[in-house]
Amino acid sequence: MRIILLGAPGAGKGTVAKQLTDLDGSVQISTGDILRSAVKAGTELGKKAQGYMERGELVPDSLIMEIMESRLEEPDCKKGFILDGFPRTIPQAEALKKLLKKLNLKLDLVVDLDVPREVVLDRLTTRRTCSNPECQEIYNVKSKPPTADGKCLKCGWKVVQRDDETEEAITKRLITYNEKTAPLIDYYKKEGSLKTISFTSSQEIVNGITGAIKKK
Ligand code: AP5
Repeated sequence: MRIILLGAPGAGKGTVAKQLTDLDGSVQISTGDILRSAVKAGTELGKKAQGYMERGELVPDSLIMEIMESRLEEPDCKKGFILDGFPRTIPQAEALKKLLKKLNLKLDLVVDLDVPREVVLDRLTTRRTCSNPECQEIYNVKSKPPTADGKCLKCGWKVVQRDDETEEAITKRLITYNEKTAPLIDYYKKEGSLKTISFTSSQEIVNGITGAIKKK
């Protein structure tokens, strides 16, 4: 499948993307994960992105498109891809449209994960993430805890809170989402490819997405 997952920070994009890739071998492409790995590795990209991320602002579109243009051409994308956290602005959506045309690829669906604000806030403060850049499994102290001593169940690395999980950065990320990313809902509605999903259980969300793709 080739889909875009839209949704506020904490809506569950990463969690659902990981479950969808298990179904048909498509790959999860999370611009947030790519940027966090670059920050950790201290690359040029990481140095440019770090400040924006810690403040809860968006990284400039030009940097994101540089990443995505090469990423979508990698061979593992042939089986399909789940775009998690991209596009995030109208210019990114326009650039993606051109890129997909150039690659002769069509999207199956754009999904808007519609989750109430209080649920999102609760999830962001209770989320934990595996610190292994190769793993980045997502946990939650309430709904999906790691081991009792805070280790990843998959790879054994320490499970940590992200640097953008301060109260200040979370508030800023939600404002940024409403200003810059929420307009994409109307953008894709007009294109006729949007499916809004309001379930809170990940399994129901996954079923909603696969059902909508089958109906097309
Ligand atoms: P990014 O990493 O994309 O962060 P985000 O969009 O803020 O999304 P999150 O990862 O916070 O949430 P999520 O929706 O994936 O939820 P999750 O599955 O983890 O981006 C980070 C930063 O990078 C941005 O602020 C920006 O600076 C930069 N950036 C990235 N992409 C960019 C772009 N394209 N352009 C410009 N800048 C960009 O779930 C959250 C929690 O809830 C977890 O604990 C999980 O276990 C739990 N949970 C999930 N689903 C359920 C459920 N159904 N029931 C119970 N708990 C659940």
